[in-house]
Amino acid sequence: MRVLVIGANGKVGRQVVALLGPTHHEVLAMVRDPAQASALEATGARAVVADLEEDVTDVVSETDAVVFTAGSGGSTGGDKTLLVDLWGAIKTIRAAEAAGVKRYLMVSAIHAADPDQGRPAIRHYMVAKALADERLEQSTLDYAILRPGRLNDGPGTGLIRAGEDIGYGEISRADVARTIVATLECENTIRRTFCILAGETPIGEALARL
Ligand SMILES: NC(=O)c1ccc[n+]([C@@H]2O[C@H](COP(=O)([O-])OP(=O)(O)OC[C@H]3O[C@@H](n4cnc5c(N)ncnc54)[C@H](OP(=O)(O)O)[C@@H]3O)[C@@H](O)[C@H]2O)c1
Repeated sequence: MRVLVIGANGKVGRQVVALLGPTHHEVLAMVRDPAQASALEATGARAVVADLEEDVTDVVSETDAVVFTAGSGGSTGGDKTLLVDLWGAIKTIRAAEAAGVKRYLMVSAIHAADPDQGRPAIRHYMVAKALADERLEQSTLDYAILRPGRLNDGPGTGLIRAGEDIGYGEISRADVARTIVATLECENTIRRTFCILAGETPIGEALARL
């Protein structure tokens, strides 16, 4: 399967690309700066340079599956939240539908289920995530929407909690990356939206129990 990772130079994205590298998947790592390409290509991926604020139709149409783990980040303004987290995501969903790309994995956020529960300072970001998720749920795609809690850079344990209503907490980016890769292989996650937190259950088992 050829997998496009959007946000490939991000903290989660780089780990997804590294994990997918040794698998049978062919990995297209989407970056916006050509200088970011060589580190990703060292893991066996092919880098493609594209920007979510521009036309990404061609990049999406080259793939069998999309992993969206891009984000405008906390140091930009609400305009970028709208253009990247919301509109950028919707453009890739539309492009996947138009090109017949069936599998689409979205890295969302736990409070996208109910943005009013999120911290006021990032509520607009949760609204953007919620609306992108809603568009994906209304699509024809074989989507999976992963909603992690607060991300940290701790080591991966391979153990998570997964489900629709699992409270709030943290999860390492390493375990989010492993869960993304496992989700790609897990048919039980097709057309499912679920939260993930650090937990006690091996990732494959947690996904199988959804
Ligand atoms: N932080 C949290 O606690 C939290 C919680 C739940 C979910 N999330 C979500 O988890 C995902 C991964 O997070 P992370 O920590 O890996 O984020 P990250 O390190 O900030 O990575 C985000 C990536 O998106 C890319 N990007 C931004 N604007 C873009 C554009 N216009 N076109 C193409 N790419 C663009 C960035 O590119 P550059 O490398 O060029 O900057 C970066 O590589 C994000 O979707 C985030 O919203 C985060």
